[in-house]
Amino acid sequence: MVVLKDVRIDADFDFLRSVEPPHGTGSKRGKYVFWRVVNGVRDGRNSVWETFRREVFEDDENRFEKFREQIQSVDAQIDGIARTIFNRHRFLTETITWKFQRNRGENMHIDNLNGCDKAAQIRLFANLDNKPRQWSIGRHWRHYAEREFDRAKLSDAVDDPCDFNHRLSAAAFGVSTDTCREPRHMIEFEPGEVWLANSALVAHQVRGGDVLALVHHEYPYRSYTDPAESLPALLKNLARRRSGAPVPIAEKIRTALQAFRLKRAA
Ligand SMILES: [Fe+2]
Repeated sequence: MVVLKDVRIDADFDFLRSVEPPHGTGSKRGKYVFWRVVNGVRDGRNSVWETFRREVFEDDENRFEKFREQIQSVDAQIDGIARTIFNRHRFLTETITWKFQRNRGENMHIDNLNGCDKAAQIRLFANLDNKPRQWSIGRHWRHYAEREFDRAKLSDAVDDPCDFNHRLSAAAFGVSTDTCREPRHMIEFEPGEVWLANSALVAHQVRGGDVLALVHHEYPYRSYTDPAESLPALLKNLARRRSGAPVPIAEKIRTALQAFRLKRAA
């Protein structure tokens, strides 16, 4: 996890906190995407804006316009931060998700992100509530994966990172409605605070806080500075070691070249 200590998003947190989300169901409740870019084509998602205009603001044009202005301003700020940090990447998709959820706590878990078998995601979060957002952070994926691999018989999921993470999370932390006893750090993010965490590789838990925006633009795993740290590569490496198979020559060369490149860049 990386917290951007000197960055604060400028927004009307009291106003955003006052927005009651439209009713949804299940895990989709309170999550909205106002625009997306796929293959360079922008999709404005008019139906989402219209849902807010009708169901939330009941055609109060002044409040709706304020809402639209706040969403667009925050999106521009966090998208700008993501582009500054990851400026060498060409994104496969660009998405910002807004969450107007009413969190009452969840179990610690590792995310089983859509498409995590094919592409990496930036995971840049901004607290837009008018009170601190509380999270807990556990350990890196490799700690739990090493520990649970044999015990939870995860070897038959090594070719599917999404399924592996789903099963790993259940094995390490139990079901989502449960409370596990794994050690964790607690952290509070102030209104406007920004942080990054690869939630497919770091155990985490939302303990409180309701309004959040998340930049999760996708980029290819091959764009990693150190490809060996990507989820599929970590999984491949773990599966090979546990099977006792020797390291292929090509992989040894790749690893040596990567270590050389990283040393030169340092
Ligand atoms: Fe999560």
